[in-house]
Amino acid sequence: MLLSNRLRDRRAFLSYLAASPILAYVGLTSRWVEDLMQETTAQDSVALDRQNEIIIKSVKEALSVFDFDAVARTKLSPAHYTFITDGSFNNETLRANREGFSKYAIRLRRLTSISKVDQSVSIFGITWDSPIFLCPVGRMNAYYPQGAVVVARAAKATRTLQVLAGSQVIVSDPKAIEDVVVARGEPVWVAGLGDTLDRPLVKRIEATGCPTLVWTIDDGGGNTIGAKSLQRAGVANLDREADSRCVGCHGNLPKVIRIAPGTPMDVVGAIGSLRGENSIKLNWDDVRRVRDMTRMKLVLKGIVTQEDAKLSVQNGVDAVLVSNHGGHEDASGRGTIECLPEVMAGVGGKIPVFIDSGFRSGADVFKALALGATAVGIGRPHIWGLSSFGQEGVETVIELLRRELQVIMGEAGAASVANIRRDSLVSRS
Ligand SMILES: Cc1cc2nc3c(=O)[nH]c(=O)nc-3n(C[C@H](O)[C@H](O)[C@H](O)COP(=O)(O)O)c2cc1C
Repeated sequence: MLLSNRLRDRRAFLSYLAASPILAYVGLTSRWVEDLMQETTAQDSVALDRQNEIIIKSVKEALSVFDFDAVARTKLSPAHYTFITDGSFNNETLRANREGFSKYAIRLRRLTSISKVDQSVSIFGITWDSPIFLCPVGRMNAYYPQGAVVVARAAKATRTLQVLAGSQVIVSDPKAIEDVVVARGEPVWVAGLGDTLDRPLVKRIEATGCPTLVWTIDDGGGNTIGAKSLQRAGVANLDREADSRCVGCHGNLPKVIRIAPGTPMDVVGAIGSLRGENSIKLNWDDVRRVRDMTRMKLVLKGIVTQEDAKLSVQNGVDAVLVSNHGGHEDASGRGTIECLPEVMAGVGGKIPVFIDSGFRSGADVFKALALGATAVGIGRPHIWGLSSFGQEGVETVIELLRRELQVIMGEAGAASVANIRRDSLVSRS
């Protein structure tokens, strides 16, 4: 059991004792328990700090995906680590993604005699070993040399669906998709970003044999305050056009508007550096236009409402991906797991629904499957694994989440994904 859980249980027991008549019987006052709780809280924070300091040295020591976050923090530059881990604005959507899971609890069954759990799923006629897939993340070289290729090798070894961030890699390397396809051993799904997805890019993606085009429409150029705060404070390694360690990768990328050290983080300083409000400029005619451009399956990434789910079906989209870019782009304060039921209602069973943003455990994945999702994407966890231990790190992150899902499926009495039902969950009000 995790240390934090043990300490929470101990506190819960002491709270129970403080309110219990048992104390009077043994001649003690609740004051005694309160003093003990104070002491425990002080010990807790020291113990928890110590736990948080543990940096695993090998993938074999990993207990959860968060272990890889801790290692990634030590391996990446502050700029790269903050950019990937932080959310946008005040992190309200990043937090909501995690908090959303606590609104649902899982109903466990006993004595089910399940000895084998099958978590395979079928997506567009292809069977995958698990519903967990790898989300597109741009500029993966920032997190590991040849990051996208290394992730592809891990995806191949674990037979995992990988979605490659197309637009971003193409800017930095014209053979980027082909290299990933070679490493993966077969064509991969590719994601195009906002209004950068023009006809030449669609045709180029199609030419790689890509079966499914994911169109990301939630990229509004979020205000990543964490990264900018580092920039404002003049933390090293942020002047990427000037720093000789950065130009190798950043030299051929479009220049970003930088905030000079000392700039006050007021509305002009913070919001003034937003990129393009891509998704706002686009409309449903553009969806039709892209739909008519290609025979690849088309997935819209970033759908979070019933209305847009319905429009996706009406405009010939093949699946929707409920996503808020992992809290990286908006300040809605709404977790994707909270959006999932209305999106399910909007598509009305006509097309599959995928989801990502904030998934960190097998139990999280289980909850989305119980609410009707077909597959669940992970972004940061596999990048933490990549930054920490390369291919082995990505594989272990996938393996950890799959095992957790395996266990919780068995406990909930679901021998297969089809057996995970809505009544496997209870909603907390
Ligand atoms: C640093 C970073 C870069 C990302 N780059 C892209 C991208 O280029 N294209 C895209 O469709 N989504 C991108 N995403 C969003 C992910 O595909 C995914 O929606 C998100 O990471 C899932 O949330 P999670 O990180 O909490 O698992 C990015 C996310 C992060 C954190």
